[in-house]
Amino acid sequence: MTRLICIALGVLLPVALALPRNAPESLNINGNIKRQNDNRPSAEDRAQAVIDTFRTSWHGYYTYAFPHDELHPVSNTFSDSRNGWGASAVDALSTALVMGQKDIVNEILRHIATISWTSNDEVSLFETTIRYLGGILSGYDFLTGPLAHLADNTTNVEVLLSQAKALANTLSYAFETPSGVPYNNLHLPTRSNDGSANGLATVGSLVLEWVRLADLSGNATYASITEKAESYLLNPHPASSEPWPGLVGTGIDPVTGNFLDAQGGWVGGDDSFYEYLIKMYVYDPTRYGQYKDRWVLAADSSIAHLASHPKPRPDLTFLAIYNGRNISLVSQHLACFDGGNFILGGQVLGEQKYIDFGLELVNGCHETYIATATQIGPEVFGWDSTKVPAGQEAFFNTSGFYVTNAQYNLRPEVMESFYYAYRATSDPKYQDWAWDAFVAINATTRVGSGYSDINNVTVKGGGGFTDFQETFWFAEVLKYAYLIQAPEAEWQVGKDGVNEWVFNTEAHPFKVKGGA
Ligand SMILES: *[C@@H]1O[C@H](CO)[C@@H](O)[C@H](O)[C@H]1NC(C)=O
Ligand SMILES: *[C@@H]1O[C@H](CO)[C@@H](O)[C@H](O)[C@H]1NC(C)=O
Ligand SMILES: *[C@@H]1O[C@H](CO)[C@@H](O)[C@H](O)[C@H]1NC(C)=O
Ligand SMILES: *[C@@H]1O[C@H](CO)[C@@H](O)[C@H](O)[C@H]1NC(C)=O
Ligand SMILES: *[C@@H]1O[C@H](CO)[C@@H](O)[C@H](O)[C@H]1NC(C)=O
Ligand SMILES: *[C@@H]1O[C@H](CO)[C@@H](O)[C@H](O)[C@H]1NC(C)=O
Repeated sequence: MTRLICIALGVLLPVALALPRNAPESLNINGNIKRQNDNRPSAEDRAQAVIDTFRTSWHGYYTYAFPHDELHPVSNTFSDSRNGWGASAVDALSTALVMGQKDIVNEILRHIATISWTSNDEVSLFETTIRYLGGILSGYDFLTGPLAHLADNTTNVEVLLSQAKALANTLSYAFETPSGVPYNNLHLPTRSNDGSANGLATVGSLVLEWVRLADLSGNATYASITEKAESYLLNPHPASSEPWPGLVGTGIDPVTGNFLDAQGGWVGGDDSFYEYLIKMYVYDPTRYGQYKDRWVLAADSSIAHLASHPKPRPDLTFLAIYNGRNISLVSQHLACFDGGNFILGGQVLGEQKYIDFGLELVNGCHETYIATATQIGPEVFGWDSTKVPAGQEAFFNTSGFYVTNAQYNLRPEVMESFYYAYRATSDPKYQDWAWDAFVAINATTRVGSGYSDINNVTVKGGGGFTDFQETFWFAEVLKYAYLIQAPEAEWQVGKDGVNEWVFNTEAHPFKVKGGA
């Protein structure tokens, strides 16, 4: 998951869609080595096809947009929505590394050495942390570890750590608030902020990156300031902001550290707070036992109170959102990381019930893909049988959900959860699901010099392009699509609950603290 999006609970606008339940188009490609009883290519050929797509996307970006943040592949232009520091390049580094693309790795390393951390634009502490700090620290872990042979110049590897420290030192004033909860929207030239309240995901998805930096650099301040901010999320006030044990509100006041509401879920704006509770425990179980305990509470409460089965499709499971103890039957592509996170927690804690529940969630999100004309799932969907938009009744009856926002923004969460499901079960079904999703995404979002967000997953062809190639296309979608087909490696998620690496929310892998 990556992007914070605001959802107005219960007032998501219904979009009228006329949707025949489409028979899947023929999506087979001419693979040379085939599986038994299947016309899909071998895992090796699939992995290579994902690398080919990565190189195509990189070539378009490098030709028309580098060193800006992102490519507009239709118009062959660029934009700087992430501070103008070359966000696609930094986000692509750890994927180029695991794919062994040495030429691209070194192009990116040369760029990172040149970045000066200044910007006149509004800088998001959260987005900057997960993409830039995350990407650079992951590169440093790989290039001082198992992938050291991919760097041409060791100076540029050492520069990764000094650049990470320089970036964090530029941002760290954000934590200088009465509570220690940071502001998110920063104006660096004046070391000021926009004064607006912060949120659960944006406060609660900093600690993994900053703690990794503390451990690599020896400067414990990076850990202490983010742990202090996180402490307000682990001990929420007022009590009403925690409607069920472990499930908390969204808005947080940096002056008091108090929650401002009691609405939330596993959706955008909240998502990666829950994700990091268990990932901190993976990173270092000796320091982050309390984080794990809070994850367990949230997971148990979600199974008890948020799990929901559409009336026409009781076989499917989605997680509802809440406002206090009232729930709304709405979810998002962004929330589809939830299955993978339950699976990770179940493996690490040796609790099969979380793995089983996670696999149900993975299945639900898979269904949102295979029900549409593009075979790609929508941005926002619902399953309240009293609120089915006109024209979608037949679709709802067969699919178990309706679409309220039909975009696909090159998001990774469904692919991510397929990856965790495969690692936990070794069931090749999940490799097939990931391949089918990759083929569908490639077929519909490929345009001009790269890949673009699309308007409408419910029509063949995707209903037009927004002319925007997301940076997390490089960091996340292509990494998970590749790793699920790729050979065993120490950075792959453990099959047995033992992990040498842990992925940040932008899919940048960090070496865990106890790791050799
Ligand atoms: C998506 O396509 C469907 C089917 O043509 C149409 O009814 C709907 O209005 C479109 N939605 C958007 C947001 O463009
Ligand atoms: C390695 O990179 C540094 C800094 O970017 C540069 O000054 C140096 O010339 C490079 N060395 C080689 C051998 O290319
Ligand atoms: C450690 O990090 C803090 C926070 O960014 C910074 O203010 C301080 O200067 C750093 N200390 C050293 C010795 O670099
Ligand atoms: C929950 O629903 C009840 C009954 O509809 C309503 O009175 C109450 O205000 C709702 N609470 C919240 C927090 O929305
Ligand atoms: C959908 O299912 C409901 C309940 O079974 C039924 O009343 C309705 O006619 C169905 N609508 C369509 C368009 O199939
Ligand atoms: C991806 O799309 C391109 C362009 O449409 C096509 O040539 C290629 O075969 C596709 N790759 C896969 C794996 O489907």
